[in-house]
Amino acid sequence: MADRWDSALYDDRHSFVWKKAGDLIDLLDPVTGERILDLGCGTGHLTAQIAARGATVVGLDASASMIAQARQNYPKLAFVLGDARALRFDEPFDAVFSNAALHWIPQANPVIAGVAAALKPSGRFVLEMGAKGNIAQIAEALTAVLEEAGHAARNPWYFPSAGEYASLLEVNGFEVRTMETFERWNKLEHPERGLREWLEMFAGVWFDGVPTGSRTEIVARIESRLRPALWRDGVWWADYKRLRVVARLGVFPIE
Ligand code: BEZ
Repeated sequence: MADRWDSALYDDRHSFVWKKAGDLIDLLDPVTGERILDLGCGTGHLTAQIAARGATVVGLDASASMIAQARQNYPKLAFVLGDARALRFDEPFDAVFSNAALHWIPQANPVIAGVAAALKPSGRFVLEMGAKGNIAQIAEALTAVLEEAGHAARNPWYFPSAGEYASLLEVNGFEVRTMETFERWNKLEHPERGLREWLEMFAGVWFDGVPTGSRTEIVARIESRLRPALWRDGVWWADYKRLRVVARLGVFPIE
């Protein structure tokens, strides 16, 4: 798979992705001596926060650009390039943590099965991802404008409902301890170019097959369509909705 990530732009303009997840680390509650996997670690900022609480952490990401930036940001920590659908570790983990990564992988079952296999008995899985309805207005505008312009709408995102994800966790041997969905709109950094920059960073796949010369016009039409809903007080907002889960492995026998 091509590496689409611009890790410098991600750290510069989209730092809300990890800055808003500090309390997810409180839910993880890492303690000294624990071994923790940060699945989809991006540029490593949350990996470093987990390590600062005394745990031994491995950050894994499928993007070579993200892993290179993470290693540069935190040279003393361990980062590996890898696919969350095919986890292979010799030593098991006490916990697997994941923030804003799993919605990029529609094949949720192999990911969850791999997490279960990577954990010690009773190990925990603490995650946040986009929930059903996440960035629904942005996805609707992308679909409508691209189709109006005669292009296929290629939605790469996986935003499960709480019920759907709980079922997947349970069939893989997890017990769901807490699960919540909630709205968390994010203010986009640059007042005028905020939405454009967000689309550039996160919606590249939608534009595959769209000639470069048409993209500016299509993005301008998406902005016009979204302005009434997502432009407030002189700034762009993204209509995020989160799914947060704490699950524990092997608390009941698998039937
Ligand atoms: C998110 O919910 O964090 C997200 C989902 C898709 C694209 C960008 C961000």
